[in-house]
Amino acid sequence: MHHILEMRARLLRWYDDQGRTLPWRVRPDDRARGVVPNPYAVWLSEVMSQQTTLAHATPYWEKFLAAFPTVTDLADADRELVLSMWAGLGYYARARNLHKCAGVVRDEFNAVFPTDEKTLLGLPGIGPYTAATIAAICADESTNIVDGNVERVISRVFAFSEPLPKGRKDLRALAGTLVRDERPGDYGQALMDLGATICSPKSPTCLLCPWAKFCAAHKAGEETAYPKKDKKKSTPVRRGYAYVLRCGDKVLVEKRPDKGLLGGMLGVPTSAWGQTPDDHSAAPLKRNWQRVGDIKHIFTHFELRLEVFLAEVDEPINGHWVEDTSSLPTVFRKVVEAALRP
Ligand code: ADE
Repeated sequence: MHHILEMRARLLRWYDDQGRTLPWRVRPDDRARGVVPNPYAVWLSEVMSQQTTLAHATPYWEKFLAAFPTVTDLADADRELVLSMWAGLGYYARARNLHKCAGVVRDEFNAVFPTDEKTLLGLPGIGPYTAATIAAICADESTNIVDGNVERVISRVFAFSEPLPKGRKDLRALAGTLVRDERPGDYGQALMDLGATICSPKSPTCLLCPWAKFCAAHKAGEETAYPKKDKKKSTPVRRGYAYVLRCGDKVLVEKRPDKGLLGGMLGVPTSAWGQTPDDHSAAPLKRNWQRVGDIKHIFTHFELRLEVFLAEVDEPINGHWVEDTSSLPTVFRKVVEAALRP
């Protein structure tokens, strides 16, 4: 039998002491002095930090909050601007949903960001993780917060034997058995911090862990055997050509169709991605293309390999030219980089 109340007390004490300081986080001592979290700022941080590290997401959060201090500012902003500011964070459907969600909050919730789990789940782009986290942090709802870090911690503590992803539902239920009404936001964030710092994937520092003495995987000396995973199918490869047309310091870009991968984002022209194409019909201007390099980029479900071609013009042809590639998704920054700095 696990000692749930003692585990929670130890974890919360560890968090009071060692939890990370993050710009959107209200630390327990500030909370005690009456500071309350801003649901809009928390929502932004949670959407941005999915599938990436907080170190990568934090500068984006700061940039967004400075440009759009309130949810109304974000809703009123041009979608193009929001998408270009998201460039580099990946999963661009999230940026489209972010802007849509801000519009719904402005129009249907009187610009007041909801904080209860049920309402949150009805908003664009908000799934179980985000809804649970905002509700716990901002409304003290005792929700079950489970992200990848929490999955790792819980699977180790209980030596959870079902492989993921199949076992995910049961693992979430197991995490739920530790949830109580006391300090739900701090508890969830403590668990995530523990997973992100001490209970790391490859080399957990169990010596410093407040849960070491409750941890079944630690007892067996098999921490890194959890979470168990089903054998991954190998990642499929897609191939294509990418075309960097250069005029001085500028390159030609186009807006990608709204639907699908990288929808609505800017990028250099490419062929379709699939088999290696057998012609260059996707090249803008059919002359002087020089093969200058290759790039590789991993998307969630496949690996993309692009052969990069470069051509130069003295006068810009019609179209959208950019000098600064920071508003392009990472895959296209790699392409431009390969073309201009081979
Ligand atoms: N990762 C994403 N959101 C987090 C949060 N609120 N606390 C700790 N880690 C996180």
